[in-house]
Amino acid sequence: MSYDLVVIGTGPGGYVCAIRAAQLGLKTAVVEKRSTFGGTCLNVGCIPSKALLHASHAYEEAAEKFAGYGISTGPLSVDVKKLQAYKAEGIDGNVKGVEYLLKKNKIDTFHGVGRIAAVGQIEITSDDGKNQMIGAKNVVIATGSDVARLPGIELDEKVVVSSTGALDLPKVPKKMVVIGAGVIGLEIGSVWRRLGAEVVVVEFLDRILPGMDGEVSKNFQRILSKQGMTFKLATKVTKVENNGKSAKITMEPVAGGDAETLDADVVLVATGRIPYTAGLGLEDVGVQKDDRGRILTDARFSTNVTGIYAIGDVIAGPMLAHKAEDEGVAVAEIIAGKHGHVNYDVIPGVVYTAPEVASVGKTEEELKAAGVSYNVGKFPFTANGRAKVNQTTDGFVKILADSTTDRVLGVHIIGANAGELIHEAVIAMEFSASSEDIARSCHAHPTLSEAVKEAALSVEKRAIHM
Ligand code: FAD
Ligand code: NAI
Repeated sequence: MSYDLVVIGTGPGGYVCAIRAAQLGLKTAVVEKRSTFGGTCLNVGCIPSKALLHASHAYEEAAEKFAGYGISTGPLSVDVKKLQAYKAEGIDGNVKGVEYLLKKNKIDTFHGVGRIAAVGQIEITSDDGKNQMIGAKNVVIATGSDVARLPGIELDEKVVVSSTGALDLPKVPKKMVVIGAGVIGLEIGSVWRRLGAEVVVVEFLDRILPGMDGEVSKNFQRILSKQGMTFKLATKVTKVENNGKSAKITMEPVAGGDAETLDADVVLVATGRIPYTAGLGLEDVGVQKDDRGRILTDARFSTNVTGIYAIGDVIAGPMLAHKAEDEGVAVAEIIAGKHGHVNYDVIPGVVYTAPEVASVGKTEEELKAAGVSYNVGKFPFTANGRAKVNQTTDGFVKILADSTTDRVLGVHIIGANAGELIHEAVIAMEFSASSEDIARSCHAHPTLSEAVKEAALSVEKRAIHM
């Protein structure tokens, strides 16, 4: 069998790439080593984490807000088994959806580990050890990423867990220590805190969510602390002793000082992810990687070997599902002789806590470092009518616009539905809009989106409701 394109890996990068290639008339196949399609995102990442975030948010709302709305409930309790069944149903619906789409687009599917045996030759080894070889004029590597492990700290996925184990806990832990105040630590930490766990987050740096706008990160930490999450910043974990039922965590200040210990029934290691290329045979065909293990690609997603491309978490750039998807579309179009491309300046990032945090474009720190002169427009949700009545007044919208041209350079939002609101900014930036363009666009009342318009007005110090 021979194909125009074989995609290895069916995460958001791989399956989207295969569908776009098939739409463009390429004879396409995918190879996936899991039993289900959808990759990290659908099986153990985006989708299961959002299911638990959704349900645990509903629980907290019921516990803290319903009485104030005049709604009475009986005493609330959580059945974690049912919660996990609800999560599994969400995963199942999504992975079956991908299976349906692959079939609908007449994409051949192979289950097994894919290895590039030679240029144009993919060997597939299935679970039962059987091998088969397929031909490929082009190969796209979309094998994603894996959990970054900390030296000396073993993951048993019961007491000391990665995100995968933390999304699958059989009961609410009494105490959870999270190592790493990045996206995974804060999202999954929020889930178990809402359901009753005491959550302590230990972070090596002196701030949470490194890479996010500094003001956003500071305010967000204050909000999470108010919700009951505890932070130990500028602290490094030196040892985790796991007795099979609980763990003792030893840590010390990064700057030096006395060590302290904490006991926890679950420790979540959330210190980043690394590109996954094991078993692909890259060395045999001479595909180059960088010093962080990421496959090196050019602007057309081509590796140094003709006919072999790579996209998604396995190459440089933010490890985000939508970035992988856009690269999947772009590389399929390039292989089909078209002009696919990804605008890396306008990729949104969202933290799906409550409130959500969403960001696109440059942070203040980045603009300062680049010597760009900018104006700031800010509007708090306390002054937004809809947020007031919804009692979701935590947070603000912040717009950074070039002080000479008024072009929007970055937008950062903390607030309810920030992950939806940010797309107004994404579209505006994609079309090189000015803050005045946003300010002059009619926004429906009463909506949270009005805060985006007011922040744009506030760039020229003419917000109406502040
Ligand atoms: P992956 O989704 O990792 O897929 C790679 C696939 O390749 C896997 O199915 C793997 O089995 C397969 N594979 C690997 N090697 C081989 C081989 N040799 N042969 C055959 N198959 C192989 N991102 C967001 O944008 N939003 C979120 O809300 C979000 N939440 C997340 C929550 C968690 C807990 C985690 C861990 C990640 C989250 N992410 C989120 C990140 C997101 O999951 C990744 O950025 C995304 O999945 C990357 O897509 P990908 O296609 O590059 O790789
Ligand atoms: P991350 O890179 O977001 O955060 C890791 C954190 O751990 C950083 O703050 C880092 O300073 C800290 N850290 C590193 N080593 C440490 C140590 N030894 N001790 C203490 N702290 C340490 O990585 P995370 O949260 O594991 O997520 C991995 C990837 O998954 C991210 O790139 C993210 O983009 C993606 N993801 C995206 C989500 C979303 O879009 N909502 C949700 C979850 C994951």
